[in-house]
Amino acid sequence: MNIKFVTSRHHGDLAAGLDKSNIVTIHWLLQDGKAKRTTQAIVGQNLLQVAHSNDIDLEGACEGVCACSTCHTIIEDALFNTLDEASEDEEDMLDMAFGLEETSRLGCQVIVTEAFDDVVFKLPGATRNFYVDGHVPKPH
Ligand code: FES
Repeated sequence: MNIKFVTSRHHGDLAAGLDKSNIVTIHWLLQDGKAKRTTQAIVGQNLLQVAHSNDIDLEGACEGVCACSTCHTIIEDALFNTLDEASEDEEDMLDMAFGLEETSRLGCQVIVTEAFDDVVFKLPGATRNFYVDGHVPKPH
């Protein structure tokens, strides 16, 4: 299988150090709630990296440091229940996310595993960006 990964928003290799032959197929339900995309994801990447590698419009304003909610992604129940629990920092950011659902997570905090194969990830209809609007995260 010949797969091309495009890095359009970030510099560098979004899969550096990972086994690029260890891939799963995932599906995205886009912000309009209708359009779908199917992409490949490398096991070990986070969902934000997968999105950016495939020109999926998932913002990621803080570039994956858990300091915004613009990478908010809604996960299918069956997979959600198998994930490690969100950290307190992630929960704090999720509290500010637009369209929060029971199975909401921050895409930058969710690492792809083999269990992600054929799962649908839903992108909310909007994002709320406190990070670039003056929100200053507290130091840990
Ligand atoms: Fe900011 Fe994920 S990109 S929390």
